[in-house]
Amino acid sequence: MLLPPEAGMPYVRRPADLRLEPGSLTVEDGVIVALEDDPGADVLIDATGGAIVPGFVDCHTHLPFAGWRAEEYEQKVTGVPYEEISRRGGGIASSARALAAASDDEVLDQAREIRTEMLAHGTTTVEAKTGYGLSVEAELRAAGLARRIGDRVTGLFAHSIPAGYDAAGWMDEVDALAARADVDALDIYVESVAFRNEDLARLGEIARREGVPLRAHVEQFNANRSVPVALDAGARSVDHLACLHPDDLAPLAAAECAAVLLPGAEFLGAEQLAPGRALADAGAICVLATDCNPGTSPVLSMPLIVGLAVRRYGWTALEALAACTLNAAWVLGFDDRGSIEVGKRADIVVLDSPVEHLAYRFGRNPIAEVIAA
Ligand code: NIG
Ligand code: FE
Repeated sequence: MLLPPEAGMPYVRRPADLRLEPGSLTVEDGVIVALEDDPGADVLIDATGGAIVPGFVDCHTHLPFAGWRAEEYEQKVTGVPYEEISRRGGGIASSARALAAASDDEVLDQAREIRTEMLAHGTTTVEAKTGYGLSVEAELRAAGLARRIGDRVTGLFAHSIPAGYDAAGWMDEVDALAARADVDALDIYVESVAFRNEDLARLGEIARREGVPLRAHVEQFNANRSVPVALDAGARSVDHLACLHPDDLAPLAAAECAAVLLPGAEFLGAEQLAPGRALADAGAICVLATDCNPGTSPVLSMPLIVGLAVRRYGWTALEALAACTLNAAWVLGFDDRGSIEVGKRADIVVLDSPVEHLAYRFGRNPIAEVIAA
């Protein structure tokens, strides 16, 4: 059973301190009530030979979206860069057209199917983002749909610059959207094909005014030096970091800001590799997520993400597990889940094999049981 180094920790910077010990737990009314077994319980699960870990928290997905973009994947693997696909009207714009053409029920049905599959892969908490609206009305609709799918809703109103706007002009709309929409955090995509560091700084001010955490997609395809801007703005997380500038690593690792790494997008997009090993060694709050979206990462399996992270960053299984449980819960502002502690939600995954197998038997789903509250 995987236990935190001590009770009540908000996150772990040294996952080697996690305890992997033989043990049992008892669940009652959706809550962990004891770290011992109850022979009189209604249901007994024998996890002998396997492992008991917290339910996975997927803190970075782009649910809800409509349909997929398989044709773009073929373009990408045969050599067309993401930014070029995006300039040709593909990418985010194409998912915006699909979302506009789909009914609420169609969008919700697809998202619920994905969530069901996520649950079968051990994910008990999911963040949802807006971002495929690309107009004020469509982003408000996306926020409403996201609320019906996700456990947390992030307003990624600054995802792509809608036709008829420049970055600054659309940021005025983002400002108004942030005040109007029901969201738990704000997010922005900083890149050559999207927004600039000055827009990130402005979103930081908007997030402070609204009293919600700031998150940011940064350094995915280029080193734009967005990390110092995000840290100045008090960001809760910086996500992607494939092109993190070496000078920005130490300040990030020292900050109370999570490094959310997305190895699915890195692998499928043949992106650069985020410096996962160096971030972990420097004591960063490291986090893993699927980035589940129809473009860069049509991936919903956290075991697969763990397998990629362990191999490609050179992480231990414990480092990967901390990154998609307690640390990911902290990114979403949940202190009631993410670790096996008395009083926390009973979000529990039973693996059919030791935790190391999660990464080692790559591509296999080792989830034997999932208890979601
Ligand atoms: O996190 N990079 C920006 N946003 C998404 C991709 C969105 C899309 O291609 O539909 C990401 O990778
Ligand atoms: Fe993303």
